[in-house]
Amino acid sequence: MTFLHVDMLTKSFGSTTPVKGISFELERGSCTALLGPNGAGKTTTMRMIAGLIAPSAGRISFQGQHHSNGEYRSLIGYLPQHPAFYGWMTGQEFVMYAACLSGMSRKDARRRTTFVLEQVGLAEAAKRRIAGYSGGMKQRLGLAQALVHRPPLLLLDEPVSALDPIGRREVINLLQSLLTETTILFSTHVLPDAEEVCDRIMMMRDGEIVENGELQVLADKYRRPQLIIQVERNNAANEWLQSLRSRPFIQDAQFQGSTAQLTVNNMEEARRIILDEVSSRDIPLLSFQSGTTSLEEMFMKVVTA
Ligand SMILES: Nc1ncnc2c1ncn2[C@@H]1O[C@H](COP(=O)(O)OP(=O)(O)O)[C@@H](O)[C@H]1O
Ligand SMILES: [Mg+2]
Repeated sequence: MTFLHVDMLTKSFGSTTPVKGISFELERGSCTALLGPNGAGKTTTMRMIAGLIAPSAGRISFQGQHHSNGEYRSLIGYLPQHPAFYGWMTGQEFVMYAACLSGMSRKDARRRTTFVLEQVGLAEAAKRRIAGYSGGMKQRLGLAQALVHRPPLLLLDEPVSALDPIGRREVINLLQSLLTETTILFSTHVLPDAEEVCDRIMMMRDGEIVENGELQVLADKYRRPQLIIQVERNNAANEWLQSLRSRPFIQDAQFQGSTAQLTVNNMEEARRIILDEVSSRDIPLLSFQSGTTSLEEMFMKVVTA
């Protein structure tokens, strides 16, 4: 069932248009990574869905109903890219404050605050001032404030980008534990974060969605056989290596020093012809590896194309 429907959503600031008429749907209970390089329009998109800025054009509807700005706040938990905290507050005070802002009664707010602080692993630190929290703890506190009113949709804007590996691991594990309850839209500029948590990927570039689909389907679509060949550093060998670029069985070639990374159309043919030539021309081969291009390479291609 479709939970969120975004139709021709556009945002302009003066003469720049960071979001250019994008459309997509999120299924209830799905986890989608909004993936794209810096400046692609991810934050602007999330802020519109969160109701923090008004779209210049287009529609956002929840469960088939179009709401005007702000009416659907109770449906959304939002973790901004750069959350601001009052350092003098304790974690508990901060989550309590967010809960009350969302319209919960004090009694409910108190109960839910205790619950989410436990859920994000901050029960012990709950009565300490936020100023003394680590980056990972602050990000988990940000998640606690986004979760406290039990929103069916979580909007997480680069939730792990600013964290060190330990903090990142803490937050990724926490997100994995939330997957069954909540619909999640998770923005990031790095693919490995997305791969670990989400089952769908939406790639943005220059304000447009350039790919949208299941992670596995996209990975298969872009996966290509690949050869990595390294020769000794000498002119003849290098000339031969460079000549591979224009062969019919080569789709794409990248060179670095005396190493070539070749995306091939026909692995059988490529392997046979290249190895024949290596032997007949006496090419000083150092290594010859076959494999497939990674999802990371696909992402780089899509976003820089
Ligand atoms: N309030 C604003 N006024 C003018 N330009 C903005 C504003 N907010 C964002 N932009 C521009 O919109 C583009 C997309 O920004 P953003 O949505 O933050 O991208 P991302 O989150 O993918 O890095 C950027 O070029 C940014 O400078
Ligand atoms: Mg951003």
